[in-house]
Amino acid sequence: MDKVALVTGSSSGIGFETALELGRNGYHTYATMRDISKGSKILEIAKKENLKIKVIELDVNDDQSIKNAVKKILDENKRLDLLVNNAGYFLVGCLEDMTEKDLKDQFETNFFGVVRIIQSVLPTMRNQKSGTIVNVSSVAGRIGFPVTPGYISSKFALEGLSESMRYELAPFGIKTIIIEPGVVKTNLFTTLKKATKADPAYKDITQKVLSGLIMMSQMGTQPQEVASTIVKAVSSDNPLPRYPVGNDAAMFLEAKKVKTDIEFENYIKKELFS
Ligand SMILES: NC(=O)c1ccc[n+]([C@@H]2O[C@H](COP(=O)([O-])OP(=O)(O)OC[C@H]3O[C@@H](n4cnc5c(N)ncnc54)[C@H](OP(=O)(O)O)[C@@H]3O)[C@@H](O)[C@H]2O)c1
Repeated sequence: MDKVALVTGSSSGIGFETALELGRNGYHTYATMRDISKGSKILEIAKKENLKIKVIELDVNDDQSIKNAVKKILDENKRLDLLVNNAGYFLVGCLEDMTEKDLKDQFETNFFGVVRIIQSVLPTMRNQKSGTIVNVSSVAGRIGFPVTPGYISSKFALEGLSESMRYELAPFGIKTIIIEPGVVKTNLFTTLKKATKADPAYKDITQKVLSGLIMMSQMGTQPQEVASTIVKAVSSDNPLPRYPVGNDAAMFLEAKKVKTDIEFENYIKKELFS
């Protein structure tokens, strides 16, 4: 019997490549997206390669949309083996630039969107006594950084949730995996949302950090590498809690491990915005 997977945010980037890679590895994959008119390319590739990939609608901010998608998958398969929580967006702006709504919207997608879907699939996975949940976090879930505190806070929250879930769900045979890419070459940096206020006090640092990030993204890790890491992780009988992806991720996380907080802060200042 084919394993059944649900991937959120499959219209582009990491989600698109992950849905394809899962299909290539024998998963019956539901490549979900909030706008299914963006699904033609993945369906075309799936047809050419004879992969079991279906495109269905799922907006992680919409309870009814999640309910409909999960129901459809369970009606068709009676099981769900893998959930990849990938959908997210990048809020840019310093703390004083952000309204409370900017920050709540960021959490609504990047954090509560994940919580909503996990809660909707857990009864099924618990009944099956098996399942894997992959949360696409980021190096930004482990390292503070200026100009993107909203995004970073949402990923830190996701890390805390994931780490805690692992203990709660392991007794039911459910695995939790965190994926921590560094900078990846995707649409994330072109579709980014700017914080509403743009306080002039932060104009210089915002420009500097943002142009640095955009430059790094052009040389970033390919999303296929993240997809391969996800497939490798979910294929393991005993997956690790975390999988960093990319040389930048490995470098920053190693520095964070070996340096004191002050040494690390000075390192980040020097490496990224001196
Ligand atoms: N790129 C990086 O450097 C990087 C690094 C670390 C982690 N990540 C994480 O990787 C994940 C994927 O991002 P990406 O880099 O592949 O960027 P991307 O190409 O912009 O993909 C983001 C995906 O999320 C979807 N999405 C956004 N809001 C949604 C919602 N409310 N409901 C459903 N789908 C929604 C987008 O759909 P639409 O097409 O409809 O907008 C798109 O499919 C994100 O969680 C991101 O934080 C990215």
